[in-house]
Order: sequence, then structure tokens, then C-alpha cells
Amino acid sequence: MKIFPISCESLGTRSFAHLVMTKSVNILIDPSVSLGPIRFGLRPLPIEIAASWISRQLILEFAELVDVIIQSHYHGDHFTLGIERKYEFTNRDVFNSIYSPEVTILAKDPDKYLNFSQQKRAKWLWKNKKLKLSKADNSEYEIGSTKIVFSPPVPHGSEGSRVYVLETMIEEDNFKYIYTSDVCGPSSKIATEFIVQNTPDLVVVDGFPFYLSKTKEEFEKSFEYLGRVVDNAEEVLIDHHFLRSLNWEEVLKENLGRKLRTFSMIRNQDPILLEAQRKIRFDKSPVKEEFYTAFENDKISITFYKELLSKNDYYQYWKKLRSNVKEEIEKKKE
Ligand SMILES: [Fe+2]
Ligand SMILES: [Fe+2]
Repeated sequence: MKIFPISCESLGTRSFAHLVMTKSVNILIDPSVSLGPIRFGLRPLPIEIAASWISRQLILEFAELVDVIIQSHYHGDHFTLGIERKYEFTNRDVFNSIYSPEVTILAKDPDKYLNFSQQKRAKWLWKNKKLKLSKADNSEYEIGSTKIVFSPPVPHGSEGSRVYVLETMIEEDNFKYIYTSDVCGPSSKIATEFIVQNTPDLVVVDGFPFYLSKTKEEFEKSFEYLGRVVDNAEEVLIDHHFLRSLNWEEVLKENLGRKLRTFSMIRNQDPILLEAQRKIRFDKSPVKEEFYTAFENDKISITFYKELLSKNDYYQYWKKLRSNVKEEIEKKKE
């Protein structure tokens, strides 16, 4: 099994998009990307927008290569919205090329355990009768030598949340990989149980969103649950919510008592925390209002994004990702 993070906080965006390639199937998980619209009172920096752009290009490219898409829930950082969203580089056409009739989509049940706005978004997908859709809640699928197991709906945070998500386990050759999606820590017993009971080899958790104001009790509970996950898994990676703050490593050490690697690190990339660094970067080099006016009016060229990215050595990450994935696909065809 090979896992390729495409877009996530440790790669400079708000997302959890990744590819899982097994001997039998290529899976694209939560194919979307977004940016924190306002953080520290500031809009996304040009470099964040460029990271979102390249992530979107790769999501579109990879969507054409995969057999299965997994949709854990319908928040915009996981689900490509079918309306124009500039920071997310999406619109109706982008939506249609990702969720196409060629791919099997295993997705959160649109009618249960979702608030009104999530149900409304989910309908964009479910009303299209041409798509191969399956309600994945609490289900198991077997594709060749690969087993895909979904949790029951688990809260997007602590018990009583109005939005629920699905955790996913992908298993092949006795190797079990679990992607928790947005369980905020985990912050609920049921989300923790799914992980612990499966004793996985590798888990990717989103971590507690401690950059938002939450109660001390919720904060402490999430570390108690994360501790249980760490005790029952071979390796745990942390990303997404937890990586929206610069002091994530200290917070982890203080409250979990140990270090965890980020999602990017499974591909040997040190974290690039663009949103968390927004204020520092802005103070060093303020962004002129003209940039945002040009951006809003679609006057920023692709060359601008490419040049901006190429000045940062981590542009290599996405270049390598593209060639590694294509190589992998070619190998499987042989
Ligand atoms: Fe979410
Ligand atoms: Fe999320």
C-alpha cells in the first residue's frame, strides 16, 4: 500500500486530500482544498493561494486516474463544492470532472447525521443519477485483495456535534491504514473505539483544533483519546486541525508527552505551515490591496503561481508527487 498526501496543513493548505494505492485499487480520499479565509485578521497570502492552486491541479489530474473516491463528509476542505469559490479553485465544471460517472464514490450518507447545510451540499452529488454512488456508513467493501471498512457516523468533534463524519480503514496484506477525517482529536469515544478496536499499523488523525476557543475539558479529553490511539497503533501521524498553529509540537509534547510526525513526513517532506505563519510572513512582506483586486477579477496568471512556487524549494514536493504517482500507475499496468 502506498499513501501520497496531496494537500493538507503540513503542505500549506486546509485539506486532507490524499491517494491510497493498493495492488487492486487506486483511491482518492476527500478530494478538495481550501484556505482559512481570515486568520489573524488577514486574508490568505499569495503563496497560500498558489499552494491551493497546485493542489487543485493535482486533485483534478489524479481524479482521472483513480477507481474509487471516498467522501468522509461535506465540508469544503474535504468536498469539492459545485459553486465558484476562488480560494478553492472550484466551480461547477471542476465539481463535474472530479465526481465523474467513471469513478465509484463511497460517501457519507447524505440524509443521516448531518446538519442542514451539509445535507444541502451532499444533494449536489446524490441528485446526479449518472454517478456510481454508495452510502458508505458502517459498511465494508472488497475490491480484489483490498478491504475498505467504514466506521458508523462519528461526531465531528465531541458527542452532540451536529455534523458526523466517516472514518476509513483500508486493509491489504495484513496492513491496516486508518484515516480518521475530522474527529477533532479524536474528541469522542465512538471515533476512538473504531481506531482502537482495529489495532491499525498506520493512523492519520486530524488532532484537536486548539486554535479555536474550546473548553479545557474538551481539550483534555481529546488528548486522553489520542493517547489511547497512540497506544493501540503502530504509528500515528497528525495533521489538519492540529497544524493550524505554530506551537503544535510544544502542545503535543506537553499534553501527549511524545512527538508525532506530520502527514507530509511519510513522503519525507518537513511541514510547511503557511496558514500558521500568515502573520509572520505578512509582517515581513505585506501584500498590497492590488493583489487581492486582481485575484478577485481573475487577473492573476498561472505563470505567477508557478514562479512563486518555484522560488520555494517545496515546489519539488508536488513535482515529485506527480511523477511518483504516474510511475506507480504505469507499474501497475505492466
Ligand atoms: Fe470538517
Ligand atoms: Fe476538515
